[in-house]
Amino acid sequence: MAAISKKHNKSPRWLLSSIISIFILFTILTFFLFHARFFSLQTPSPQSSWSLMHELQSYSIFSTTSSTMKSMVHKLRTSVTFLPLKDLRYSNAALVDHTWFMSSLYDTHQEGEVQYQKFPSESSQGRILCIKGNDTHDGSWNYYALAWPEALPYNTTFMKGLTFVSYNHYSYENLWHGLSAMLPFVAWHKMNNCSVLPSRWVLYHWGELRFNMGLWVGTMMEATFDGAQKIERFEGPESGPVCFENAVVMRHNEGGMSRERRMEAYDLMRCKARIYCNMSSLDDRGRGVPVIGMTLFLRTGPRSFKNDTAVAEIFKKECDKVEGCRFKVAHSNNLTFCEQVKLMGMTDMLISPHGAQLTNMFLMERNSSVLEFYPKGWLKLAGVGQYVYRWIASWSGMKHEGSWRDTNGEHCPYPEDDRRCMPLFKNGRIGYDEKHFAEWSRRVLADIRTRKIHQHASTINATTLPPTTTTTHCACN
Ligand SMILES: *[C@@H]1O[C@H](CO)[C@@H](O)[C@H](O)[C@H]1NC(C)=O
Ligand SMILES: *[C@@H]1O[C@H](CO)[C@@H](O)[C@H](O)[C@H]1NC(C)=O
Ligand SMILES: *[C@@H]1O[C@H](CO)[C@@H](O)[C@H](O)[C@H]1NC(C)=O
Ligand SMILES: *[C@@H]1O[C@H](CO)[C@@H](O)[C@H](O)[C@H]1NC(C)=O
Ligand SMILES: *[C@@H]1O[C@H](CO)[C@@H](O)[C@H](O)[C@H]1NC(C)=O
Ligand SMILES: *[C@@H]1O[C@H](CO)[C@@H](O)[C@H](O)[C@H]1NC(C)=O
Ligand SMILES: *[C@@H]1O[C@H](CO)[C@@H](O)[C@H](O)[C@H]1NC(C)=O
Ligand SMILES: *[C@@H]1O[C@H](CO)[C@@H](O)[C@H](O)[C@H]1NC(C)=O
Repeated sequence: MAAISKKHNKSPRWLLSSIISIFILFTILTFFLFHARFFSLQTPSPQSSWSLMHELQSYSIFSTTSSTMKSMVHKLRTSVTFLPLKDLRYSNAALVDHTWFMSSLYDTHQEGEVQYQKFPSESSQGRILCIKGNDTHDGSWNYYALAWPEALPYNTTFMKGLTFVSYNHYSYENLWHGLSAMLPFVAWHKMNNCSVLPSRWVLYHWGELRFNMGLWVGTMMEATFDGAQKIERFEGPESGPVCFENAVVMRHNEGGMSRERRMEAYDLMRCKARIYCNMSSLDDRGRGVPVIGMTLFLRTGPRSFKNDTAVAEIFKKECDKVEGCRFKVAHSNNLTFCEQVKLMGMTDMLISPHGAQLTNMFLMERNSSVLEFYPKGWLKLAGVGQYVYRWIASWSGMKHEGSWRDTNGEHCPYPEDDRRCMPLFKNGRIGYDEKHFAEWSRRVLADIRTRKIHQHASTINATTLPPTTTTTHCACN
């Protein structure tokens, strides 16, 4: 009995001191947790941030300061404002300046470099990019916002690593348009010494989510970024926004980049593609006579030659006259990616009608030659887009040797510069002019031979090969 009453007597003091120490402990703990969250942690996950909120809720009665903080964080979390990815106010200037895609944000642009947006960054005040955007039909129903990592919107899914967010005004399937949208990512990668690989891609077209790149474009990215690339589908069970630990947004293709920077980006892709395809070496190293590869790269259907055989005969005849010249006919419709990479690696003179297959030209060695062919009517009616292969030649360091335009073709009842004629001419086929093709070919072959003899001599003298011909490593800084 005595022992029990003794304990009873002690009890109030013990209880009081326990309560006081627990109170102090909780206050310190709450403060510590809060400060750690708010000021130091670099990469919080919303899970821990969510459970932190619960902790704060349970203990905040002990601290008015943390309750103020809590309410501030709550306010920040609920004030994240989502805007439409596609801003219809700018539909008549969709590609200009800040564009209609994420129109409230401006790109980072240093003279001659790729234009991009990076989140978090100084210009985003440390905020990261969040997206609510899986609509595949209307880009104005998809949304973006910036949020501080310490105060992400409720129910956020946090995606770790680097995310590439791409805007493409045309198509991810087409070789030319697909590659144009990818080029700035390659340039950005190179600018960062190839130090970080993307964990995923988010593809938008007019603000609408896309799930695929064309096979050729996708394989090129797989080669460039060292492995299969994940294209985000936002398919999780989560209903809230998605926020990205690191995101890079591109919406201006190669715009703003100097020729030098463009060439470097193509150089990197060429080199990476050759490694990916296990191309060991180019075929003319260390021989007596430089080899000249002449390739007739054919299409089927629209803009194909009316008579492939006749065209092939003309060019083969000229090739046969030049020592070391090797003539090849290839069909663009049934070559695998690596067959195209290898074919272009052996080509110094590419002969091909206007069309997406010409995008492959940057896979030739630098300074190689391109001869382009158009059906009737294109000069006056096809607009500026008909010159894209001149542009890519210039950007990738190739020589566009001019074009031949057929003057024969469909008869159009209107004047030939009347827009109503374009449907008739658009998918026209291409004839030939034997005399002109032969002369053209001789002139280009002579130039290539001079260049190759010169290059060949200096290659033999050089102790190391130029960077594009090494096959295990690509220059990345
Ligand atoms: C978060 O998700 C839950 C369950 O889906 C939902 O009940 C709740 O309303 C959401 N909260 C907010 C702020 O959207
Ligand atoms: C890339 O490498 C160059 C040269 O080595 C260096 O000056 C530059 O700071 C590096 N850039 C990045 C982003 O790592
Ligand atoms: C987009 O997300 C919402 C909400 O999670 C979902 O109900 C819907 O099915 C998703 N749509 C597509 C096309 O995945
Ligand atoms: C390249 O070679 C490696 C190793 O031999 C092989 O695993 C890979 O499939 C080859 N790649 C291609 C595209 O042929
Ligand atoms: C194509 O050209 C070849 C060689 O000039 C000729 O023999 C052949 O008849 C032509 N074919 C057609 C369908 O005109
Ligand atoms: C590739 O396609 C062309 C044109 O359709 C055809 O003539 C050729 O035989 C095909 N080659 C192969 C290997 O399938
Ligand atoms: C390409 O040609 C230019 C100008 O003639 C020359 O300066 C350059 O070294 C050449 N590049 C290669 C890779 O042969
Ligand atoms: C290559 O070396 C030889 C002998 O050393 C020299 O005569 C020649 O001029 C060199 N050629 C070039 C292009 O440097």
